[in-house]
Amino acid sequence: MILSSFVQAGKQLEAELIAFRRDLHRYPELSLQESETAEKVAKRLSQLGIEFRSGIGGYGIVAELKGEQSGPTIALRADMDALPIHEESGLEFASTRPGIMHACGHDAHTSILLGAAELLVSQKIKGTVRFLFQGAEEINAGAKAMIEQGALDGVDEIYGWHNLPTLSAGLTATRYGSLMGSVDRIEIHLEGRGGHGAIPDQSIDPVVCASNIVMALQSIVSREVSPFDPVVVTIGSIKSGEANNVIPHYAKMTGTIRTFDAKVQKQMPERIERIVKQIAEGYKCKAELKYIEQTPVLINHEDCNRHVEQVIDYTIGAERRIEAPPTLAGEDFSVYLQHVPGCFFWIGSGPTIDASSAYGLHHPRYELNEDCISLGASLLAAIAWQKLATE
Ligand code: NI
Repeated sequence: MILSSFVQAGKQLEAELIAFRRDLHRYPELSLQESETAEKVAKRLSQLGIEFRSGIGGYGIVAELKGEQSGPTIALRADMDALPIHEESGLEFASTRPGIMHACGHDAHTSILLGAAELLVSQKIKGTVRFLFQGAEEINAGAKAMIEQGALDGVDEIYGWHNLPTLSAGLTATRYGSLMGSVDRIEIHLEGRGGHGAIPDQSIDPVVCASNIVMALQSIVSREVSPFDPVVVTIGSIKSGEANNVIPHYAKMTGTIRTFDAKVQKQMPERIERIVKQIAEGYKCKAELKYIEQTPVLINHEDCNRHVEQVIDYTIGAERRIEAPPTLAGEDFSVYLQHVPGCFFWIGSGPTIDASSAYGLHHPRYELNEDCISLGASLLAAIAWQKLATE
């Protein structure tokens, strides 16, 4: 077996993997509800004769291929959940479930990992390949739950990937060190005193208070953090009031905090709390803040990143690999990387010509170039095989 032959072998599976992906696409399931998806994965694994355990960290599945000789355990991970987005792609196999869509391509990730399993099932290996089919990635809960139930026990290295619609299918992107940002969630509840919109002096207005907090939080980014440390503070939802002439008694906000450095991430709760509490006090509101740490910065391990790059170069050629720019988008794969060495990389899923015009991940018109599926399966199989080859 030479590495590049995985590409031809993957091509043979293309029709089957695309059909599998389209079926998942038609019937998407939200985080922690991936029961049908998991059943389909389990059925396929049984057909391939691969042993697995299901119900890991929700509906997650851990499957294993063991070689006759002992050796390291290499884990490959895919995510399976969809998003609360109403699909507008107009595709023939678009979601049949209103308000739920595979807008992040996890349907393709699941299919890719099954393809890798199928490519590896006939190979002689020294050691073990462990396949992690994880749920609840979109709510940053799945990886942690899988690890708590032993998904990483005995694992020496782990590899994961994500499709990227703004990179042409056929291309890949890798990066040494930090690739993706940390993700924290904040929830703010402001309690004022409601009243008539025309008599503000008899009320405590949480809307004015909330507005000031939204603006002041931005000063953390511009005034408290070094300009060389990327940070994002986004308030994504504000809920308050129903009528134009009524001062409501409360305002609720939720937001996301992103950083690119563990030290900076650690400092953020104090900063957010100080500004929220003290501005609220200034406006006579009571403030409650929930600061929920979700995922750490995703940091690739040097040797594992080098391994992925070498496999890509041998398999499809160095000209099809670029250096990935860093992003503050998050990925709960970062949690695995806190426990074992590994690497996360991008597989292009965009149009061959002018991928920059493609709709991004999480967009209701997001589409995935299905050429990435068999290629992804081939690369993942090669990444594991190269570590476990017997000859
Ligand atoms: Ni995703």
